[in-house]
Amino acid sequence: MFNASIYTQRRQRLAKDLGSGIVLLPGNNYQPFNYPANTFPFRQDGTFLYFAGLDLAGMALVIDIDAGNDLLFGHDPTIDDVIWEGPLPSLTDLAASAGITQTREIQDLPSFLKNAQSKGQTIHYLMPYHGDLNTQLSNWLNQPQLIASVALIEAIIAQRSYKSDLEIAQMERSLAVTQKIYDLAMRQTIAGKKEYEIVGGVLGIAASNNGQMAYSPIFSVNGHVLHNHYYGNTMQNGQWVVADLGAETDMHYASDLTRTWPVSGTFSPVQRDIYQTVLNAYNRAADAAKPGIAYRDCHLLAWETIAEGLKDMGILEGNPAEMAQLGVPGLFMPHGLGHMIGLDVHDMENLGENYVGYAPGQERSTLMGLKSLRLARPLEAGFVLTIEPGIYFIPPLIDRWEAEGKFKDFINYARLRDFRNEGGCRIEDNFLITDTGARMLGAGVAVPKTIAEVEAVIGK
Ligand code: GLY
Ligand code: MN
Repeated sequence: MFNASIYTQRRQRLAKDLGSGIVLLPGNNYQPFNYPANTFPFRQDGTFLYFAGLDLAGMALVIDIDAGNDLLFGHDPTIDDVIWEGPLPSLTDLAASAGITQTREIQDLPSFLKNAQSKGQTIHYLMPYHGDLNTQLSNWLNQPQLIASVALIEAIIAQRSYKSDLEIAQMERSLAVTQKIYDLAMRQTIAGKKEYEIVGGVLGIAASNNGQMAYSPIFSVNGHVLHNHYYGNTMQNGQWVVADLGAETDMHYASDLTRTWPVSGTFSPVQRDIYQTVLNAYNRAADAAKPGIAYRDCHLLAWETIAEGLKDMGILEGNPAEMAQLGVPGLFMPHGLGHMIGLDVHDMENLGENYVGYAPGQERSTLMGLKSLRLARPLEAGFVLTIEPGIYFIPPLIDRWEAEGKFKDFINYARLRDFRNEGGCRIEDNFLITDTGARMLGAGVAVPKTIAEVEAVIGK
């Protein structure tokens, strides 16, 4: 945890921004794996971590703005807890480590809330994303239909969007682990191995650095399946793998990195063209990212660069900037350029993508690819985000667009047939927006990225 004063300051700022009422932030509970006593690994809620820092199940933070009190609801360890889990800190000690002096038993929370409601206090809460908390919150508040507080959402985003030096140091630490992961994954890639043999090593490195992955590993010779969690393919020369792997620290700050490499260690001529185009798009977006530019415009610059590369390959015809505006590259990059990252890999996504990533009045596009852009608003110093362009050849999507005659003046569908089995390619790093531009995080341990750098390490 950070020093208690950090959490106190964050809560004070939240209280000041909201002005009145009560903030109710429940932490997560254990989630059953197949029955309640056998659970998934515990993952605390990002907002609870931000304002209370405590990484244990079964607690709730209450900020009573009207009374000027912060309270931690939880429970003192019972003798059964101690028998099964060993010595545990008291609720008072836990609260103290977060700068909170008032504690209550969690079973007293419903009556506390009822009392607040009877006094006419507004209770601000977020929409739960676990079913158990949804039911619990409904019962606690005697409210069948939960309605999240937009004021709370906005006040949280107003803090969590700007990363402090301490948070950036955490993210650099998670990237140092991710670099070790890539070192292993790249060196151990060799034809004949199963993907899961590499994934096993990946998970082991995260665990042996006292952390876990920030999301399920993506490691596949079928990189055109964007979130592919199947690891049963045998890697073969001629194929390339998309590896999208990011560790999180013990404090749950995330990293999110993607590299693509040829199984044989040498890119084919077509793979080189695709890879270099994606790298050009990445560099174009990274060069453009700075305070004031809408991230949507960085996405369009990446798309334009991809259109230029695909034009050189004979797949597209026309003006690349016009094609980007119209959405033609969405066939090849049907996802957004990137997203905020922090305590969640898609930071704060549970608060609502549009609140996090779109400025008031900024419309979300309906174009393939652009509609999935989670961060579109003008960038500001202190944001940490991913830049992750890609090119994919997705046969069912190509077939659908061709059947519809979509953008047939721009897309040479006959030429595209030569590429339909090329799979996918993505390159991703994490960037801090500074006063003047964008600084790649993890630069001290940078994972190979140019064609020459990548070829130098695969299978070595
Ligand atoms: N790392 C997976 C994603 O950004 O969606
Ligand atoms: Mn990402």
